[in-house]
Amino acid sequence: MTILEAVKKRHSVRSYISRKIPEDIRQELSAAIDACNKEGGLHMQLVTDDADAFNTFLAHYGKFHNVQNYIALVGPKAADLDERIGYYGEKIALQAQMLGLNTCWVALTFGKGAARKKCDIRSGEKLVCVLALGYGETQGEFHKIKRISEVCKNETEMPQWYKKGLECALLAPTAMNQQKFEFTRNGSTVSARSTGGFYSKVDLGIVKCHFEIGAGTENFQWK
Ligand SMILES: Cc1cc2nc3c(=O)[nH]c(=O)nc-3n(C[C@H](O)[C@H](O)[C@H](O)COP(=O)(O)O)c2cc1C
Repeated sequence: MTILEAVKKRHSVRSYISRKIPEDIRQELSAAIDACNKEGGLHMQLVTDDADAFNTFLAHYGKFHNVQNYIALVGPKAADLDERIGYYGEKIALQAQMLGLNTCWVALTFGKGAARKKCDIRSGEKLVCVLALGYGETQGEFHKIKRISEVCKNETEMPQWYKKGLECALLAPTAMNQQKFEFTRNGSTVSARSTGGFYSKVDLGIVKCHFEIGAGTENFQWK
């Protein structure tokens, strides 16, 4: 599966079967996480076979079932931490999709519970979100998304790379499916901004990750 196919096939999955992640897949995912941590200055961690901690907490949400693995999206506190977590966390979610796994972003922070002990959150660091991970009971489902004209104004003749970037951006997961973002373009310089909302900076990072995949980084630069 290519990364573009992963963008198209990924849907949030909240119920998982009890199939263990094989060691070779776990290692491949770990390597992707290490590479993203290095590039993004983050401390994201893969936690496998930890049914208790996550499910006890998520029982409150009601919608999650049998989550046994997750990725703790952790990094040193900084003004741009949320956006970087969005950008690199989504790279990992798409990598997981390419490896045949399913995911769902979860806006929660572990308190003092057992789950916190499983991941290493050092002084000065913050757990921004969690990615639930595993083999889904289903592949999830497609949700209604905005039209290009709703997230990109003042465009009459848009180049093909820009259109493809926006199509991928519209397939990005956002908190509560809010899709509160807007794109503008000046030649090959592109700007993406959040128009507010819950976890909007994380959403913006996720959306920018998707835009790059669709548009091709060789075709544009971020403002
Ligand atoms: C930052 C962020 C936080 C999210 N938090 C939750 C959550 O706490 N609970 C939940 O069920 N889904 C959560 N989601 C999943 C979204 O509801 C989901 O991505 C959105 O409805 C679009 O659906 P899709 O991912 O299937 O395209 C979150 C998504 C993002 C990006």
